[in-house]
Amino acid sequence: MGAPSEPVLTVEELRTAYGLSRVLFGVSLRIGAGECVCLLGRNGVGKTTTMRSIMGLTPAASGRIMWKGRNITREAPFRVAALGIGFVPEDRRIFADLTVWENLDVATRRARADGFTVERVFELFPKLHELRDRQGGFLSGGEQQMLTIARTLMGNPELLLLDEPSEGLAPLVVEHLRQQIARLKAGGQTILLAEQNVEFSLSLADRVYVLEKGHIRYEGTAREFREDETIRQRYLAL
Ligand SMILES: Nc1ncnc2c1ncn2[C@@H]1O[C@H](COP(=O)(O)OP(=O)(O)OP(=O)(O)O)[C@@H](O)[C@H]1O
Ligand SMILES: [Mg+2]
Repeated sequence: MGAPSEPVLTVEELRTAYGLSRVLFGVSLRIGAGECVCLLGRNGVGKTTTMRSIMGLTPAASGRIMWKGRNITREAPFRVAALGIGFVPEDRRIFADLTVWENLDVATRRARADGFTVERVFELFPKLHELRDRQGGFLSGGEQQMLTIARTLMGNPELLLLDEPSEGLAPLVVEHLRQQIARLKAGGQTILLAEQNVEFSLSLADRVYVLEKGHIRYEGTAREFREDETIRQRYLAL
């Protein structure tokens, strides 16, 4: 898939800082409906910060974030979520004392006729159905990651921001997770994926952006990126 003709999300010249420490220096990207776009980059380049700024959790110092024609640059996180952007943070914040089913049930928000219900989520993640009565705190890392994604889906986000979902998971678990995300994508879900795991990303992404020290250094289709050894070596040291 090429560049989207009409993006749902457009990030223009985003600059974000934590106090005096500047992190993003003019990040621009766009995502089309139904696209899976990957933000690749090594440790500490600003992937999470980009997502936090989109969500309004760490507001942009300057730049513009447009969501379906609406300027959301200064919106509060709960508003951004209500407008249809769901964020799955790196640190898998599930309720340890609640069961899998309860974790999903409390997350029910934007009711839509064609939206996610606990039952639909269980269809997508059969493993979670098996584990429905287990407390969140007793799940493995991969299971917790799946539950975190599933919980965010309960809010029926039109755009899903996935922050390093493969991090810290064993290869087999990563492959299982990859298949689940691929199914989600096949169902039409629009996804922005932040990753360091290049193979994982390329197998899912339509397009790729490479971030380095708060700058976008590369933009292209997953196929173009695959064939570009120089970029891989320079910015991802592979
Ligand atoms: N709350 C914070 N306060 C100050 N600096 C921060 C904060 N969070 C992140 N940073 C700094 O901002 C820079 C970018 O961090 P960010 O978490 O966005 O990177 P990342 O690409 O997501 O990295 P990783 O792959 O390790 O998750 C880093 O230098 C980091 O130390
Ligand atoms: Mg991060």
